[in-house]
Amino acid sequence: MELKDSVALVTGANRGVGRAYVQALLTRGAGKVYASARNVSALTSTISLDPGRVVPVELDVTSSRQITAAAAQASDVTLLINNAGSLTFGGALDVAQDGLDRDMAVNNDGLREVTRAFAPVIAANGGGAVVNMLTLLSFVSAPGFSGYNASKAAAWSMSMSLRAYLRPKGIGVINAFPAGIDTDMLAGVDAPKDLPADVVRDVLNGVEAGDEDIYPASAAEVFEAWRANQKAVEAMFATMR
Ligand SMILES: NC(=O)c1ccc[n+]([C@@H]2O[C@H](COP(=O)([O-])OP(=O)(O)OC[C@H]3O[C@@H](n4cnc5c(N)ncnc54)[C@H](OP(=O)(O)O)[C@@H]3O)[C@@H](O)[C@H]2O)c1
Repeated sequence: MELKDSVALVTGANRGVGRAYVQALLTRGAGKVYASARNVSALTSTISLDPGRVVPVELDVTSSRQITAAAAQASDVTLLINNAGSLTFGGALDVAQDGLDRDMAVNNDGLREVTRAFAPVIAANGGGAVVNMLTLLSFVSAPGFSGYNASKAAAWSMSMSLRAYLRPKGIGVINAFPAGIDTDMLAGVDAPKDLPADVVRDVLNGVEAGDEDIYPASAAEVFEAWRANQKAVEAMFATMR
């Protein structure tokens, strides 16, 4: 998909990877970028990237009312980036249930519901793409992130189902599987981290190249290791608490 002159909507665009997506889309010539966030007052620095092309949208991806309103407001979208994410720390036997529920509600249910609302919009605009921010933890678990892993595994599965339904409507579903990224999400976690701009660059290069599954920045190396020996990578991740 060509990004020049595209009209994108990015969820969770107020900080972290979401803000980096807005920046990169502007650089690549997107005609308009809807920057969505559950708290629009947090979008000031994202809007300042280009007030002429960045349009703020209130969107909590767990609110069906706000999802419907966003799809009505952003009726010219051709590219949806499901970026909003939630991570609750905790092992499988001690993570709080409300954290498990929140991660699933944002990472899986929110992705599905926002896609459901925007698929007719993208189709009506001649087709386009949905990019889902998954993670290597969709297919290999870090035990200290048990609820997050499970929600992102569910989202991976859901994304493949969505892909099959949306392809005939001219909408590509593109899954990105990053490694650790240097944002608030992993603040305090001592691990190798890619820069948000590097992750976004590789994802958007993949979108422009027509890739369906993208392993940005250092994720490419981990994915190759996983393909070669899944059990060895599982054992390596099992030490991450
Ligand atoms: N950081 C990593 O290591 C890493 C690695 C692989 C994949 N990812 C994925 O990349 C995406 C972006 O992550 P990040 O590192 O930028 O995370 P982040 O710094 O924690 O930011 C999370 C973003 O999601 C938003 N969000 C959370 N719940 C929401 C909801 N219910 N409705 C709308 N927005 C909501 C947050 O908004 P508020 O500011 O309102 O909280 C924030 O904008 C996520 O899907 C994440 O799972 C991250």
